[in-house]
Formats: sequence, structure tokens, C-alpha cells
Amino acid sequence: MHLTLAPLKGFTEAPYRNAAAAFFTGFDAAMAPFVVTIQGRKYPNSHLKDLLPENNHGWPVIPQVLSNDAAGFVKLAARLCDLGYATINWNLGCPFPRVAKKARGSGLLPDPERIDRILDQVLSETTVRLSIKTRIGRFDVEEMEALLPVFNRYPLAELIIHPRTGIQMYAGEPDLATFANCLESSKNPVVYNGDINTVADFRTLADRYASVDRWMLGRGALADPFLPGAIKGLDIPHADKLDSIRRFHDRLFSAYSEILSGPSHLGDKMKGFWLYLSRSFEDGRKILKKIQKTRKTDHYADVVKRFFDNGPTWIN
Ligand SMILES: Cc1cc2nc3c(=O)[nH]c(=O)nc-3n(C[C@H](O)[C@H](O)[C@H](O)COP(=O)(O)O)c2cc1C
Repeated sequence: MHLTLAPLKGFTEAPYRNAAAAFFTGFDAAMAPFVVTIQGRKYPNSHLKDLLPENNHGWPVIPQVLSNDAAGFVKLAARLCDLGYATINWNLGCPFPRVAKKARGSGLLPDPERIDRILDQVLSETTVRLSIKTRIGRFDVEEMEALLPVFNRYPLAELIIHPRTGIQMYAGEPDLATFANCLESSKNPVVYNGDINTVADFRTLADRYASVDRWMLGRGALADPFLPGAIKGLDIPHADKLDSIRRFHDRLFSAYSEILSGPSHLGDKMKGFWLYLSRSFEDGRKILKKIQKTRKTDHYADVVKRFFDNGPTWIN
């Protein structure tokens, strides 16, 4: 079984990936949040900071590209190859209107001919292996009927499917019937992604899709970083979990302290992580509220220290 950390922009950048890989097991790889192509420009290191090998010390990383510009994609892929990446992912899933309305991410899904042209050019002009991360359509799951034959024309490393449409954003249940249809029709290896929040969620899906061996987890792993290990059968004692979470938090906090200037940037970043992490603690809402009220770095650090000193209950 192969588990990949999903890309979550604003969360799973290098500081998170490095800190998480130091304390938790289970993931075999991490997909980095997307980088965009820039027309007619070279790609300076500042654009690729998250992907520079010297900034990555954890799981093997798969860079992700958000683009509808084949020439820019080819250039960026060449640059990523130079950095040592052999496989790159193309984001066909981003649902946010300001991205999708510009025919990027899930906004490209209603135009399979354009996807075909981009795939043709990128795969004929680069040596990278390409994987695709897709939703099951932008407006309607019927879009998949035209998309799968296009994906099937190319030897993709993986086809990662988050079975919601773009306009659904994150609402509603994943459409498991449409995922099953895609699985049956895809000639490329299919990866399931979406709403795996517990070991039980995983088992239900694994029972339903016996042929799927590759899975991607995002928010569930942000809330419970032990989840990938638990899915692989690792049983960690409760006291060890608390200790690891605390040390992981401190590593993450310290990594972000070095790169974010100003207490509000640092505080906002850490509050984002607590939005997920608090779900794994008994009375998690209470600590989340306390943390959200902090304005200064010292106050934040003090609130978190007291929380851990009091021996909170980890509920996963
Ligand atoms: C805050 C946030 C940021 C995300 N950023 C990206 C991204 O950069 N690239 C991408 O392909 N998907 C992105 N996603 C989607 C996730 O990778 C994933 O497909 C989705 O959350 C469903 O999986 P999950 O239920 O395991 O989280 C993002 C999701 C969230 C909530």
C-alpha cells in the first residue's frame, strides 16, 4: 500500500513536511502544493523555494504544477527536472473560482480537447513522468466521460481522483459510484483521495475498492498525523503520541518563526494548523478558541505550553 500526503496550500509546504516526517510515519511520499507557470519567464529560486532540495528533508516530494500554458509547463518541468524531480503532478482539481474561471485547475475539465493538446505537448517535449490530480468534473460528473479517454491516451504515473466536482468545493459526500466508474475505465493507476479521516473510513473504502493500492490523505492527516501510520497497522501508545505531537508542534513553530516576519503572520499560520489539530483533542474547541484569541507570539507560546503541560487527552 502506498500513501501520499495531499498538497494543501498554506499548510503542507516544506516546514510542515519536514517537521511531520521527523515525528510521524506512514506516508511514502508528499505532493507539494502547486506552483504556477509564469509566461515567458525563467523560474528563479524564489519561485521554487518550497521545492529546492536544500529545503526538503522529509518524504520524497512530488512537485505540482497549476497551468493551462503548455509552453510554460514545459519550461517549468525542465527546471524541476534540473532540481532532480523525475515525476511532476498536474493540478486539474483546484476548485476556487478565481483559478477555475481562468481555465486552470478544475476550470480546465470542461475542455478535454485543450487538456489533450497540453498533455501532448508537455509529454512530447519533456522527459518527466506526469501524474494528474483531478476532480470528477467542474460542473457535472458527466464531464468524466470525455476526460477519461483523453487521460487513457497517455502513460500517466498516476491518476489521483478526488471524487467531487469543482463547484462542489468540499461540500457533500465524495461520489463513490463515479469513482468506481473511473477506476474501471482508467488505463492508468488510480489513486483515491477524499475524506479519509479515520482508519474506519479507510477500511470501508479499501473493502469497496480492492484493486486500489494507492491512497492520498490531506485534512485527515493534518488533524491526526498518526493516521497514515495507523492505516498501515502501527499502534502507538497514548503517552508517546502526546509527546510526539508536542515536539512536532514546537519544531513547526520554530521553523515558521525563522521564515515568517511579524507576530501576526506567525500566529495566523499556527492558528491554521490548530484548526485541524484541535479536532484530535478532547475539548479541542476550547483550546482552539484560546489560541485564536492570542495576538502576541509570547502569549501564543504560553497558551500552548500550558495546554500540553496539563496533559490533554488525545482522542484518536
Ligand atoms: C486548504 C487547502 C489547500 C489545498 N491546496 C491544494 C493544492 O495546492 N493542490 C491540490 O491539488 N489540492 C489542494 N487541496 C485539495 C487537497 O489536496 C485534497 O484533494 C482535498 O482536501 C481532499 O482530500 P482530503 O479529504 O484527504 O483532505 C487543498 C485543500 C485544502 C483544504
